[in-house]
Amino acid sequence: MDLFIEMAPRGGRGRAVEEALRAAIVEGRLAAGTRLPPTRGLADELGLARGTVNQAYAQLVAEGWLTTAGRAGTYVAAQPSPEPPSRHPHGSAAPAPRHDLGPGRPDVSAFPRQAWLRALRHALREAPAEVFGYGDPRGRPELRAALAGYLGRVRGVRVDPGHVVVCSGYTQALGLLADVFAGVGVRRVGMEDPALADHATVVGRRLTVVDAGVDAEGMSVTALEEGDAGAAVCTPAHQFPLGVSMSPARRARLLAWAQERDGWIVEDDYDGEFRYDKRPVGALQGRHPGRVVYVGSTSKSLGPGVRLGWIACPPPLLDALVEAKRLADRATSPLDQLALATMLTTGAYDRHLRTMRRAYRYRRDALAARAAARLPHARITGIAAGLHAILELPPTAPPEDRLVAALDAASVRVHPLGAYLRSRPPAPAAPRLVVGYAAPPSHAYSLALEALFGALERAC
Ligand SMILES: Cc1ncc(COP(=O)(O)O)c(C=O)c1O
Repeated sequence: MDLFIEMAPRGGRGRAVEEALRAAIVEGRLAAGTRLPPTRGLADELGLARGTVNQAYAQLVAEGWLTTAGRAGTYVAAQPSPEPPSRHPHGSAAPAPRHDLGPGRPDVSAFPRQAWLRALRHALREAPAEVFGYGDPRGRPELRAALAGYLGRVRGVRVDPGHVVVCSGYTQALGLLADVFAGVGVRRVGMEDPALADHATVVGRRLTVVDAGVDAEGMSVTALEEGDAGAAVCTPAHQFPLGVSMSPARRARLLAWAQERDGWIVEDDYDGEFRYDKRPVGALQGRHPGRVVYVGSTSKSLGPGVRLGWIACPPPLLDALVEAKRLADRATSPLDQLALATMLTTGAYDRHLRTMRRAYRYRRDALAARAAARLPHARITGIAAGLHAILELPPTAPPEDRLVAALDAASVRVHPLGAYLRSRPPAPAAPRLVVGYAAPPSHAYSLALEALFGALERAC
C-alpha cells in the first residue's frame, strides 16, 4: 500500500513516524482494519532504521491505535466514534424504514443500468482527449445541444444550446442563481410556501426569502408584490408538495409581474415529464425565455445519485451564471454529461421515461384505489403527475404528528405536510400526509401500501 506520511521537520525520527500515523488515524485517513506496510518496507521508504519503525509501531499498539496479528501484520484498530450519529433526516445514521413512502425519490432499483453502461462505453470510446481536461464551465457542447432539442420537443422550452448551463442538479443550480441574483441587485426572493426546506435554506444564505403561499391556482403573485420580491422560485408544472398545476391565469399574472417589475422567475421543472392523465402543460419558460430561468435535473427521471442538472438561462444572466459555475467546481463531470447526451440522442432516455411513466401511473392508481377502499373519508389530492400525492384525512383524524408517529412505529415513512410549511396556517387544517409512491421497488410496493393503510386505520 502507499502511505502518505508527513514527517515533522524537527524532533526524533521515530516520534515523527508515530505522530504521523496517529494523526492519520484520528483524521480518518487510515480507516480501522487497514493493514500497515511491513516495517522493513516503510523504513526503507523513509530512510530510517527498521528498529525505529518497529518501535513506533509498538508504541501505537500499546496505546491502542494499532493491533498486531503476529505474522499476518499490523492493522489499524477500531476506534470509538468521536461524533454522535447524524440527526439529519437524510443522514445515513437514520435507520431506513421498511416501507419507504417518503416523497421525492424515484424507484432507483429501475435505474437503466444497461442503457447507461452502453452510453458511458460509447462516450469513453468516442471522447476526444480534451474531455479529460478543463472544459467549458457551461458543460459539454454535445449535451447542451441534445438538451436544447429535447427540452424544446418535450417541454416547450426555447433555448439556444449556448445558453444552457449544465450543473450538478437543481440544488446547485439554485445556489448559483442566488449568487447571480445578488450580483444583479436582487435582495428578496419569493419562494413557495410550502416547499422543500432545503431550497429556502440555500437561497436564504445569500438573500431574503419572501414566503409566497400556494392556493389551488399555484403560487401567490400578490405575496411577491407585497413582499417586494425581485425574483420568484416556483414549481409551475406540479407544485411541490401540494401537487397543484399553476393555472393559465396565474401563469399570465406571474409573467406580467416579472415583466413589469423587471423580476426573474426560476422555474423548477423537477418532474415535468411525469403526467398521467393528459399531456403535460408546457414550461413557463417557453412563454417568456427572457425572464424565466428554467431548471431541470435527472433526479426524478434517472436517480438523484446521477447529479446532473441543466439551466436554460436568459442571456442577461448568462455570463454571471457561467462564472459562478466555474468558481463553484469548474464544470460538471464530462463523462456523465456525454453519457446523458447519448441517452438523449439515441432515444434511450425517452424509452426509460415511457417505462417509468407506466409504472408510476399504475402505482398512483393503486394508492388512490387503496385509499378509497380502506379510508373512505380520506382523499387523494394533487394532479395525476410526478412521484407523490397528498393524502388528506378527515378533520376528525389525529393531527399529523400523531399519525406520523403511528406510521413510524409501523416502520412506514411518509412526511407530514406541516414539515414543508414555513408559516403556520391561520386555522388548523385537516391532517395531510405527503406520500411518495415511487421509491419502493415494485415487488415491495403493495406491501408498503398495506402497512400504510393498516397503520392509518388503527390510528384514526
Ligand atoms: C421540488 C424539487 N425540486 C428539485 C428537486 C431536485 O433536486 P436535485 O436535482 O438537486 O436532486 C427535488 C428533489 O427532491 C425536488 O423535490
